Parts: sequence; structure tokens; C-alpha cells
Amino acid sequence: MSTTPSTDIDHLKHQAAARAVDYVTSGMKVGLGSGSTSEAFINLLGARVRGGLDIIGVPTSERTAQLARSLGIALGNLNDLAPLDLDIDGADEADYALDLIKGGGGALLREKIVAASAKKFIVMIHGPKLVEKMGAFPLPLEVIEFGHGETAKRIAAVVKSQGYGDVPLVLRRKNDAVYKTDNGNVIYDAAFGPVMSATAKLATALSCVPGVVEHGLYIGIASTLIVARPEGIEIIDRSATGKV
Ligand code: 5RP
Repeated sequence: MSTTPSTDIDHLKHQAAARAVDYVTSGMKVGLGSGSTSEAFINLLGARVRGGLDIIGVPTSERTAQLARSLGIALGNLNDLAPLDLDIDGADEADYALDLIKGGGGALLREKIVAASAKKFIVMIHGPKLVEKMGAFPLPLEVIEFGHGETAKRIAAVVKSQGYGDVPLVLRRKNDAVYKTDNGNVIYDAAFGPVMSATAKLATALSCVPGVVEHGLYIGIASTLIVARPEGIEIIDRSATGKV
């Protein structure tokens, strides 16, 4: 598989991934994220493995598992390997408190389980994804298919009760069919707009809606952000945010 970036954004994703690979050392148990930045990381990791790096990975999606296997990266089961030394993944948005929106690629549930099972969760993004207020990227919610329309109405009501007004909820589709996650669930994308605040309170309220399996708000989980910009890489550690 090619590791050559083809656009400026691909180049930045590749830069972030290249810095993330430096965190991986032999003997580690490593969570492998999903999405294009994670795929850049996995490609680079595969090259290191072929060069003798001895690690075992836990994939966060079937697609990531397939890619890692094709590159000769050994994979294991989270039940057998947790706690992981590291989890390395991308994100759709991040704020300066290191809270995230994830799930643009539909893998938010397994990604969150793996991130929560790691001693350190490193997130690779490129500059425009780091924002003052999250929500320009629609928040994905993974919902059980049974009665999902009713669940969506309850989500909308909960969101309104949190002071966000009428936030449009769109059932995700792919290739003219309703999108299904690796876990057989559907996804609703909630278009808040760049207005999110008190995200921990919102996250708790969303988790309480019957039928919601998981939402894409990752609050207090990320340890480190790797932010790639044309002028260079910025590393933001949670210890520097005062929110450890
Ligand atoms: C997948 C994710 C991805 O990490 C997120 O969508 C970022 O993707 P990309 O690296 O392709 O921009 O959460 O569920």
C-alpha cells in the first residue's frame, strides 16, 4: 500500500502520523485507530514492524484489522491484552481541553472502548481540527437499529433540554443504503454547529437516552494531541491543560 500523501491535508495527516509512530517502542500493546490519519499511522507502523519493531495491536474497526494484517502487524484481543500501553487514533475535532468529537468514520464505539482501555491515548489531527468550540463537525451517535426513529426523537429532546435548540439529526447513509457500523448499529449525525459547551454534561445526558449505544464526545480521555500544521508539529499534553 502506498504511503505517499497526495494532497496538502494528506501531507499533514502523514506528518502527524509520523510523529505518533515515535511513541511506539518494542514490547508495547497498542490500540490502532480508524480513519485516514490512522491508516497513515498504521502504514508507517507496518514499515517499522518489518524493520524489527515487536508490538501487538488491537484494532478499532474491521477495516483497520484488515489493513494491519496486510502489513504483517500482529493483532490480539482487547480482553486478553488490556490495559494497553498506548492507543493512537485520529479525531474529527478537538478543543483546547483535549476533548474530542470522533466517529466520522463510524468506528466511535470500538474506538472509545479501546481508548478507555489504554494507559495513554494519543490523538493525531491537523490544524483546522483544533477549535475553540466543537460542533461544526456533526456529532455522531451510534444507535441500536430497533426503534431508531424514536431514539432519534428522544436524542433531539435531550439536546433541546440542554439549551441547544432544534439540532438537526441525520440518519447516516452510505451508497444509497442506511449505514451500519461494525456492530450492526446505525448512526445519527447531530449538526450542533460550533457552539458546544459544558460537553461533559451533554455527554452524560446523551448516554442516558435508551437506544444510544455510544456518542462521539470523548471527554477527558485523550492524553496528548499531535497537531500538524504547515509550519510544524505542536504537541499538547493533558498535563499542560491543568485538567489532569
Ligand atoms: C473514525 C474516527 C476518525 O478518527 C475520524 O473520523 C478522523 O478521520 P480522518 O483521520 O480520516 O480525518 O473517529 O470513527
